[in-house]
Amino acid sequence: MIIKKYALLLASGLMLSTSAWATDWDLSILVGNCIGCHGPEGSSLGPATPTIAGLEEDTFVEAMEEFKEGERPSTIMERIAKGYTQQEFEQMASYFSKQPFVRHTQEVDAQKAKKGHHLHRKYCEKCHEDNGYTDHEGSGILAGQWMPNLQFNLADFHAGVRNMPRKMKKRMQKMIKRYGENSLENLVHFYGSQTRTDVKRDKDHDSDDHDSDDDSDSD
Ligand code: HEC
Ligand code: HEC
Repeated sequence: MIIKKYALLLASGLMLSTSAWATDWDLSILVGNCIGCHGPEGSSLGPATPTIAGLEEDTFVEAMEEFKEGERPSTIMERIAKGYTQQEFEQMASYFSKQPFVRHTQEVDAQKAKKGHHLHRKYCEKCHEDNGYTDHEGSGILAGQWMPNLQFNLADFHAGVRNMPRKMKKRMQKMIKRYGENSLENLVHFYGSQTRTDVKRDKDHDSDDHDSDDDSDSD
C-alpha cells in the first residue's frame, strides 16, 4: 500500500523532494516512541510523565545526553536515551522545541503556592525567568510542569544525586537553611499553580503576541 503510493508519487512527479519526505517520515517514527509516554506533541496528559514540549533545543539535547551518560538520575530515560544517536537527539529537539507546552490544572494548596511564589522570586527567578515559564540558558520550564516531576527533580538536587549549577546550589542551600525543607514543597505548589497559556516564546512570535495584564503578580 505504502510502496504503491510512493511509486505513484514518483511516477507522477509530484514528489518534489525525496529527502523532505523521508525526514517527515523518519521524524514521526522517531517522536512516535516518545509521545506514547510524553503525550501528544510532548505535552503529557498525566502526572507520571513530564511535559517535554517547548524546551529550547540545547536544553533538550543536553537532557538526553545526560540521561544517556547516566549523569542524570532517571527511572527509564537512561535506557531509552541509549537507543538514539546525537543526530536523532537534535532532530527530536528541533521538533519538540516548536510545540506548545500545554498546561493542566493541578490540585494545589493556595497557601503553599503563595509561599512558593515568594521563595521563587527571592531565590529562583534570576535564572528561571518569568515565574519559570521561560527556558533561559538551559534552565528548563518549571511553570505548569507536573508536580511529581518537579518534586523528584528537586529531591534529586537536594540529595546531591543530580548536579545543579553552583549558584543554584548556593541559593537552594541558603533557602533551605532559612525556610526549612518545606520550602521545596511550597515551590512545587507554586509552579504547579501556573497555568497561563498566553506564554510568549522568545523567538518564534513577534508582533501579535502580547503578554496579558494578569501576569504582573502583585502581592
Ligand atoms: C516509558 C515512558 C517514556 C518514554 C517512552 C519516553 N519517556 Fe522521556 N521521560 C519519562 C519519565 C518517567 C521521565 C522522568 C525521568 C525518569 O524517571 O526517567 C522522562 C523524562 C524525559 C525528559 C526530561 C524532562 C524534564 O524536563 O525533566 C526528556 C527531555 C525526555 N524524557 C525525552 C524523551 C524522548 C525524546 C523520548 C523518545 C525518544 C522519551 N522521552 C520517551 C518517560 C518516558
Ligand atoms: C544560577 C541560576 C539558577 C538558579 C538561581 C536556580 N536555578 Fe534551577 N536550574 C538552573 C539550570 C541551568 C538548570 C538545568 C540544570 C541541568 O539540567 O543540568 C536548572 C534546573 C532546575 C530544575 C530541573 C528542571 C528540569 O526539568 O530538569 C528545577 C526543578 C529547578 N532548577 C528549580 C530551581 C529552584 C526551585 C530554584 C530556586 C530555589 C532554582 N532552580 C534556582 C539554573 C538555576
